[in-house]
Amino acid sequence: MTNVEVKPSPIEGMGVFAARPFRAGQRIRRVNIVREITDGAPIREDAGERIEHCGYPDGKVVLWGFPDRHVNHRCDPNAYGLYDGSDIYVVARRDIAAGEEITFDYNVNTSGGSSWPCNCGAERCCGESVGEFFTLPKEHQREYRPLLANWFVRRYHHQHQVEALDAEL
Ligand SMILES: C[S@@+](CC[C@H](N)C(=O)[O-])C[C@H]1O[C@@H](n2cnc3c(N)ncnc32)[C@H](O)[C@@H]1O
Ligand SMILES: [Zn+2]
Repeated sequence: MTNVEVKPSPIEGMGVFAARPFRAGQRIRRVNIVREITDGAPIREDAGERIEHCGYPDGKVVLWGFPDRHVNHRCDPNAYGLYDGSDIYVVARRDIAAGEEITFDYNVNTSGGSSWPCNCGAERCCGESVGEFFTLPKEHQREYRPLLANWFVRRYHHQHQVEALDAEL
């Protein structure tokens, strides 16, 4: 875990911080996926598992482990999740300096999620994280288009939402 460290964040609770500089496009680390959450193996709050530490790739629910579960949301993030087979990598979206908090926009590759007030402090903060890619401001959607996972594009093609976005590019 030498690439990152977990400590209190000005955004919320604990956050993940760069322990060294990263270049744009660089893979920072492979996400620690603990397990898939299913009806037969639900979240175990008694064992410290939390629903807010889950991701939702392609209709599945997967529990993220330490330290990745502490990545906070920012409306102008410096990193994103790259889906590569069954792995997810934390990848730098731009150059990241040592000590900078590593953030994702949780709305990338997300639809039908929950919304809550955002405290990210970005100049372009939307005021809330809505849990929905397709209601983000159009310029954010355009900017994030290259970050969409193949499974997400496939899943939402039938609603013509990705085509509509591509037509505008
Ligand atoms: C995966 S956790 C992120 C790590 C969390 N800060 C911690 O201490 O474990 C996701 C939760 O963190 C909080 N959070 C993340 N980003 C936030 C933001 N920009 N503004 C407010 N709360 C945020 C929300 O409560 C969200 O449900
Ligand atoms: Zn924000």
